[in-house]
Amino acid sequence: MRELFYLDNGATTWPKPDSVHRAMSEFYRDYGVNPGRSGYDRAIEAEETVQKCRKRLMNFFNGGNDPDRLVFAYNATDALNQVIQGVLGTSGGHAISTNLEHNSVIRPLYHMDKRSDIDVTWIPFVGGGFIDPDDIRRAIRSDTKLVIMNHGSNVIGTCQPIGEVGRICREMGVFFAVDVSQTAGVVPIDMQEMCIDAVCFTGHKSLFGPTGIGGICVAKDAVIDSTRWGGTGVRSILKYHLDEYPYRLEAGTLNTMGIAGLLAGQEFIESRGGPEGIHEYEMKLMSRLWNGIKDIDRVIIYCFDSLENHIPVLSMNVEGFEAVNTGTLLDVDYDIATRTGLHCAPLVHEQMGTAEIKGTVRFSLGPFNTEEHIDAAIEGIREIVKMSLGWTKSLKM
Ligand SMILES: Cc1ncc(COP(=O)(O)O)c(C=O)c1O
Repeated sequence: MRELFYLDNGATTWPKPDSVHRAMSEFYRDYGVNPGRSGYDRAIEAEETVQKCRKRLMNFFNGGNDPDRLVFAYNATDALNQVIQGVLGTSGGHAISTNLEHNSVIRPLYHMDKRSDIDVTWIPFVGGGFIDPDDIRRAIRSDTKLVIMNHGSNVIGTCQPIGEVGRICREMGVFFAVDVSQTAGVVPIDMQEMCIDAVCFTGHKSLFGPTGIGGICVAKDAVIDSTRWGGTGVRSILKYHLDEYPYRLEAGTLNTMGIAGLLAGQEFIESRGGPEGIHEYEMKLMSRLWNGIKDIDRVIIYCFDSLENHIPVLSMNVEGFEAVNTGTLLDVDYDIATRTGLHCAPLVHEQMGTAEIKGTVRFSLGPFNTEEHIDAAIEGIREIVKMSLGWTKSLKM
């Protein structure tokens, strides 16, 4: 197989560290029994891995002292659905979100509007892709139940002033939930300092776990009602699902292999200097890419005026080409994997005017990228621009 220059880490990080593969395989071989359901040694060992991971992630997000408030879900979408439905309930009210959101926030909110008469205010971004915390403050009403937004945009890579928004929400008594899908593992997240009530994460991006595992870190006094019910392995005689965490938000058998992978992912992050070390490495590469393409004629880069307050995600287009054409040329001619289109975040494109031209080409970097990958991407873009010039000339003739 030819070497693939994988610049699509925003979709999922790839490859995963060898230590993650090893940990999952060894765990499943040796302890792949049902945790928390039985009292034999292997079930206890399996449960210990689950508890160790809860504790580790609780510390990672500085979510408090109770590891049971770290609940597992399938992915960020599942976690966000639980928070949105569990906080908003069924009796109307108001929610605030932003134009930067992924469909995993947008669609649940639209459905809540349709089903439970929840009024939603969408805050546009300003100044190159950032939310102004004062816009959130101004949007809060007496019936606002939830402010929910992402920490890092999966389209333009801007990183939001979460702490400032959190302090406004805390002051005004509104539940504050953050989608950290693109930042967990790349940017430090401190729930207590940032006044966050619930962090929703996915395991398969910069936390380096496999797909199918994610979760919610719920702050000490935050209340999320359960929206799914079933087996918990304990107190089976009770008619109703348990109120206490983690059971409150977990039903059925957990993805233990995914949890073992997430735990190994935590160790990998630590071995690379934590989120700060990973961010520094990836942003150095992003700087090389940005500097390599920003002055090329006909290259349009969106909301990327500086590297500050950014994660290593960059959206661009080549004038005259739809994103999908540029992406296909990068793939077929240069073995460079990017993502093209709307990236499941339609409101960003509506605001930027890129929805009509079918989105952008997104480069998103990971810890296994090298300067060689970046230089190949720069060269590829240069050649595509040359080709686009030829096409335009022949169309004019
Ligand atoms: C900002 C953001 N939120 C949510 C998600 C959804 O993650 P998952 O597909 O793992 O549920 C993504 C995935 O790309 C994302 O980038």
